[in-house]
Amino acid sequence: MIYYKKDTNNIVTLTLDMQGRPMNVINHEIFEAFVPVVEQLKVDKKWGTLRGVILTSGKKTFLAGGDLEYLYQADDPAEVFAFCEKMKKFLRDIESPGVAVVAALNGSAIGTGFEVALACHHRIAVNDNRMVLGLPEVELGLIPGGGGIVRLMWLLGIEKAFQILASGHRYSPQEALRVGIIDDLASSQKEMLEMAKTWLLNNKESRRPWDQAGRSIPGGSAKEASAADYIRSEAARLAAKNHHNYPAPQAILNVLSEGSKVDFDTAERIESRYYTQLVMSKQCKNMIKAFWFDTNYIKHGLNRPRGFGKFRPKKVGVIGAGGLMGSGIAYACLKNGLEVVMKDVSKLIAERGRDFVRNKLNPLVQSGEMTKNERDSLLHSIITTEDPSEFETCDLVIEAVFENAMVKQKVTKEAEVFLDEYAFMASNTVSIPITKLAEVSIRPDNYVGLHFFHPADEVPLVEIVRGAQTSEETVARAFDFVKAIQKTPIVVKDDWGFYAARVQNTYILEGITMLKEGYPPALIENLGQQAGMPKGALALADDLGLNLVLNYESQAGDHYGPKYIPHPSVVVLNKMLQEFNRPGRNKKAGFYEYEEGGQRSLWPELSEHFAPQLSAFDRQELIDRLLISQVLEAIWCMKEGVINSIAAANLGSIYGWGFPSFKGGVIQFVTDYGLDAFMARCKELRDKHGPRFRIPKRLPELVQDRELVGDLVGLM
Ligand code: NAI
Repeated sequence: MIYYKKDTNNIVTLTLDMQGRPMNVINHEIFEAFVPVVEQLKVDKKWGTLRGVILTSGKKTFLAGGDLEYLYQADDPAEVFAFCEKMKKFLRDIESPGVAVVAALNGSAIGTGFEVALACHHRIAVNDNRMVLGLPEVELGLIPGGGGIVRLMWLLGIEKAFQILASGHRYSPQEALRVGIIDDLASSQKEMLEMAKTWLLNNKESRRPWDQAGRSIPGGSAKEASAADYIRSEAARLAAKNHHNYPAPQAILNVLSEGSKVDFDTAERIESRYYTQLVMSKQCKNMIKAFWFDTNYIKHGLNRPRGFGKFRPKKVGVIGAGGLMGSGIAYACLKNGLEVVMKDVSKLIAERGRDFVRNKLNPLVQSGEMTKNERDSLLHSIITTEDPSEFETCDLVIEAVFENAMVKQKVTKEAEVFLDEYAFMASNTVSIPITKLAEVSIRPDNYVGLHFFHPADEVPLVEIVRGAQTSEETVARAFDFVKAIQKTPIVVKDDWGFYAARVQNTYILEGITMLKEGYPPALIENLGQQAGMPKGALALADDLGLNLVLNYESQAGDHYGPKYIPHPSVVVLNKMLQEFNRPGRNKKAGFYEYEEGGQRSLWPELSEHFAPQLSAFDRQELIDRLLISQVLEAIWCMKEGVINSIAAANLGSIYGWGFPSFKGGVIQFVTDYGLDAFMARCKELRDKHGPRFRIPKRLPELVQDRELVGDLVGLM
């Protein structure tokens, strides 16, 4: 598992190569395997036959992280603390055999894997852009537990360490060098090993800075005024941004603050305590559930129709590519290696799509992540056109023209003539049924909805909308395409608002209902954000447009027919649209008023029109209403087959409209709340606020998770 090889300069190369696994991982097995190796190194050192050590990997990746399944299940804090301390001892042993150790990073090292590299005296990586390095634990509501925070603080200072750790960023080797988490880059694996040897021959110091007397943390400890000020201001910023919903970034700050005032070993123990606290927290479990288990469920294609070979798209056509969504979709395809044909009403307008791509690539050239030649050849590879015959060799064509059924049907017909039976056609509509659009299609079984979210190149979710005639094979192909552009595919039914917009709308409607009840608009907006939503409900209504919000609700009315009970917010929407002519941001008049520069403030007259103003309020009840209204709608979606798995519902909610990830998504919310407590709360809300809070039948069954899918190793 650990291959030991000594050269004539007495430099030992340790190559990690765990048998029977695709990757090296940090687990008890590797701890045990290192014991005799470290003993051997000590003996070598004693006899004067050890000059230095190179730690590298025999796998494609350097070292993956810890076991997230273990962390998800862990429920004994004493055991977690002991595990964390054991990991630290292991890393301490690596860094102190009495000679310098170089981490030779031939592949990705993330989380605990990167902590191993940090425990080495020097880090050299192969300059390969497919590699990722860093400590992204914060994304799972966690922090590094192997001394990573303390080591980074000693290497880079409090401020830099905090920025790196709190961002959760995964760095390319070049970025990693720039921020200072690695020391050098090599052009190949061979060169990397040669550079490691040269460095060892030139560097005798075997003690890390924290083990040398008289050394101090760069920029000083939190005992000093400037660092203390920085920590205070970051704590205030975090509280304002996260409303104390995400404890991990604050824990990082605490470890840096407390750990900078004490010796290394004590600081490590402080880190272990915060780590344990976080592993036990609901937020961490919810985030591991979403970003590890649910993500794996989708990644393994468990919602993908079975029995169809993998579709490998090469060339994509985009209609409306000069527009907001079309240009974003085209860029998402290009950056994942696909060829793109951009079509619009004229070649000139299609060129706007190329301009959009250019504006996205320029900063990458400036930061050194892309060369000018690479940018230019990517830009040249784009075909811009007004002629649909250019789609002839496309594997799929996505239309993102105006939200108008006739225009969409027209461009579909024009394009389909040039596609063969293996290609498929997709619409990015938000509100027109796919089944209706497919009526004019010459191959309705090859017609599907691909609903991207704005900004299309950034939001990692795409809804695949299955129309009445869409074939299973087309759904499978659409699924593979979405994965090929590194987004999360969720398959949804062709119902109003599909999944994301339908559920998100209930948040908006609940906020508007509160306005009608007399709650101050600023309170509604603030509580929405305190609940963890990215925007207040009224701001969101303005951004989408009040007509669309009302349209979704009318579609719900059509769907349920005589059973439909009008939502109390509809009166307010009608008043805003008809009486006050305030349809939203588009017309610079909605629940907010808008200045020329785009800034907005709540429309002062709201309080007059929707009085009487309530001054007393139950904060928790309002927050529960804002979130539970969404949770119940998502459960209705599960019941009605709009969405088919808990994993898709959870991830769809987090990525699609920013449902709080510290709750693990919209269905995990029930587990977090406790099933019985959740049902009791819904009953209370129903009695007080009406039938929109009634519980769907079979709720316990619908939210019961049978989907846990892990993988061999975690990210941390
Ligand atoms: P947009 O107005 O920015 O872009 C539409 C583009 O389609 C324009 O460049 C226009 O010239 C082009 N176009 C119109 N008729 C055409 C034709 N016959 N042939 C070729 N090109 C034609 O609109 P946007 O916002 O990008 O929306 C496009 C679609 O995406 C709509 O269906 C919209 O509902 C949907 N959508 C929009 C979102 C948003 O946030 N704006 C989010 C998700 C979906």
